[in-house]
Amino acid sequence: MSTQPLSSKIKDPHANNGGVNAMKPDDVDGKKVFIETYGCQMNLADSELMGGILAEEGFTAADSMEESDVILINTCAVRESAEDRVFGRLSHLLQHKHENPELVLGVTGCMAENLREKIVEKAPYVDLVVGPDAYRRLPELVADAMEENADPVIDVKLDQDEVYEGFSPKREDGVGAWVSVQRGCDKFCTFCIVPFTRGRERGVPPEEVVRQCKDIAERGFKKVTLLGQTVNSYEYEDTDFADLLEMIVPIDGIERIRFTSPYPIDFTDKLIDTIARHDEVCNYLHLPMQSASNEVLERMRRQYTVEEYVDLVERMRERIDGLALSTDIIVGFPGETDEQFQQTKDLMEELRFDFAYMFKYSERSKTYAEREMEDDVPESVKKERLTSIIEMQEDISREICESRIGTTQEVLVEGPSKRDDSELSGRTDDFKTTVFPRPADDSIEAGDFVDVDITDCTSHTLLGELSG
Ligand code: 5AD
Repeated sequence: MSTQPLSSKIKDPHANNGGVNAMKPDDVDGKKVFIETYGCQMNLADSELMGGILAEEGFTAADSMEESDVILINTCAVRESAEDRVFGRLSHLLQHKHENPELVLGVTGCMAENLREKIVEKAPYVDLVVGPDAYRRLPELVADAMEENADPVIDVKLDQDEVYEGFSPKREDGVGAWVSVQRGCDKFCTFCIVPFTRGRERGVPPEEVVRQCKDIAERGFKKVTLLGQTVNSYEYEDTDFADLLEMIVPIDGIERIRFTSPYPIDFTDKLIDTIARHDEVCNYLHLPMQSASNEVLERMRRQYTVEEYVDLVERMRERIDGLALSTDIIVGFPGETDEQFQQTKDLMEELRFDFAYMFKYSERSKTYAEREMEDDVPESVKKERLTSIIEMQEDISREICESRIGTTQEVLVEGPSKRDDSELSGRTDDFKTTVFPRPADDSIEAGDFVDVDITDCTSHTLLGELSG
């Protein structure tokens, strides 16, 4: 969960005032908005987008919930646990409404899209429900919600063409920035709610992506992370994802380019070559495997076999020097047997991912799996399977980190380490967090590249000292 303040430097050339009352800028000028974000990086990027859109109409950033006129909770629906957290949070926020009856409390993002009825029923004090394709109307909708007392203001219409071209998301200064290059998803994995909450896949025009990358480079960001649900299936007219990378590589100031999340079989040889050829493109890829049983993959409708996945990993490791890989795994998908689970565990052990995000299957409404399959793996078994792969993966991650001890790594410094202000933290080219003591003369700052001699590690962090 994180928060974004607003900015005041965006343009909205496509304002669409149809449907609700026109904006009343006088009413909203200076009104303070607080945005709290749950879920994926796409959601964090969307919060920045909302911040930019609202700032253009005169809203300002609230430093805290207490001083805000508007609180927006930008939500995630991918698993039930994310949803539960948001409902918990909303009931907590009711207290702010008691203290300030004028406060507008809004729910945006994937849960808004998917659960509008449930939100209205379980949290009737919510004033505003806005889905991921309705953010350009957010200023009007908030203004409307400020006026109305009875029913919540709702806009959850999906819009197949909406890519928010021309807006400038509010980005806090830093070392890395996100740029959304694709919205929606067309894959329809049977477990996944995203196509229902974010609509169909569409690419952001390449010139818009380049404009945003140039903007962030001018502001001093060193790293860009390109975002899309299946980012490497990006397409815009004749431009594919490899072409898009080629357009970003030459931008002055952008020294590292990363992207997430790719879809395994949409890695073309051309794309692998492009990644291998450019130092700017990070040697770290997230490659969601989900399962290593062909039967389960088929029921998940993942469109690849275990053999194809393994072949891809091998080709990538051959061609991209020093490649680090992470993955997503779901345990306890409907019908997953002990043996099928064991296949997943065995392949994880064999492929040795640097890192893995591991989940228990969670039934999501509207998905094919929810409609057609029984959620038949008992919770206790799901838990057991999850614990067992987490423990194994921890060991693998630690061993991979240990293998770096004694090497020197180039680190892009991000700032003070979370735990200790006397230390700095940054990332290697293959995405490993690296922590080292801050030099006494304070000569190093965020955005610098430094060489760090690695002397120790934990399972996820390299520890070291400045080289030389
Ligand atoms: N249950 C559990 N995990 C899920 N994911 C997506 N949908 C579900 C679900 N219904 C996981 C997948 C995906 C990641 C973002 O979240 O592993 O890659």
